[in-house]
Amino acid sequence: MKNHRPIAKGRKILSSLRDIHGVKERIFTFVCQIYFMHTAVGTDILQAANFLKSGELVAIPTETVYGLAANGFDPIAVAKIFEVKNRPTFDPLILHVGSFKMLRELTADVPAIAHELAKIFWPGPLTFILNKSDKVPSIVTSGLETVGVRMPNHPSTIAMLQSLPFPLAAPSANLFGAVSPTTARHVVQQLGSKIPFVLDGGPCDVGVESTIVDLTGKHAVLLRKGGIAPEEIARITGDLEIKTSGTSNPKAPGMLISHYAPGKRLSVGDVKRIAANNKNKKVFVLGFRNTAGFPGKVLSESGDLREAAKNLFAHLRELDESDCDLIIAERVPDEGLGLAINDRLQRASS
Ligand code: TXA
Ligand code: MG
Repeated sequence: MKNHRPIAKGRKILSSLRDIHGVKERIFTFVCQIYFMHTAVGTDILQAANFLKSGELVAIPTETVYGLAANGFDPIAVAKIFEVKNRPTFDPLILHVGSFKMLRELTADVPAIAHELAKIFWPGPLTFILNKSDKVPSIVTSGLETVGVRMPNHPSTIAMLQSLPFPLAAPSANLFGAVSPTTARHVVQQLGSKIPFVLDGGPCDVGVESTIVDLTGKHAVLLRKGGIAPEEIARITGDLEIKTSGTSNPKAPGMLISHYAPGKRLSVGDVKRIAANNKNKKVFVLGFRNTAGFPGKVLSESGDLREAAKNLFAHLRELDESDCDLIIAERVPDEGLGLAINDRLQRASS
């Protein structure tokens, strides 16, 4: 792994100089970029925390997917996320917290229903949309008066969050619109050399992003299907409106119809029928329990939706790297985590 002592030394010298118009910041970033021709991967949370404290980006493990994290109180650090990901700035970011104390700093008010849900599902794959406090920079929320917040369930990331005096703004650590990463290696494949450090926490347990619920209105509204099934949330909230389908739903701009897309063409539906219509193409199948005799990958032979979610993005990536012309993905049962899997497949399809 790369020796970080020179960087620490440089940081020390720079911190003794007066900063004029952010020049110091720019010098530091420039030196880091030259120095880190390759992204370092490691398990040291102190090292990761030091980069974050200096305004650098670090990819972090969570139970859902890897996130591309920055100090959520530092607009310049957050701007780097948009730059590195090629993400349009109209797409707001989620803030990650390690404590309820931090949650209270970020929000104007925490409604009782958020407490109820957090008691059951946090730390875990559930993001709340709440009214934001003045401490949250507008670049994080793309100018919205609301902010997305969640407490991720990963031991390294939680430990690091609890040691930091700021929340971590973190979208999934992939280029905008591309397949989300579920291992440190996936992150390096897409963002290698663009960021100094990936905190390796092993493969993600859940494999699809968090469920997002908007708690700012009279009743709860589900904006993105994810790691926690809508019926589990509705059990606590009672009324739960589901609003995940719009092409240009301004409440969740990241829920664009085309997202999570591999580079290859992907069709979703009846495998045999689609294959019959594409006889001249080399077809690989992403099947639920089998591949219907075609070459490809299986999400879960035993039909376990948890296992399927965990494998989804890694398998999609592998098929994308193969020499096929067309990926055909089979829909999985529309229940529990299957709802999120089908949602991602639909958005990934071309
Ligand atoms: O599991 C996850 O949520 C992962 C891990 C890293 O935590 N993060 C993630 O972030 O999926 P990202 O940026 O890929 O997706 C965040 C989604 C976007 O669709 C965005 O539009 C929506 O959250 N969002 C963020 N803030 C919002 C707000 N104030 N109102 C409505 N939607 C919001
Ligand atoms: Mg994403």
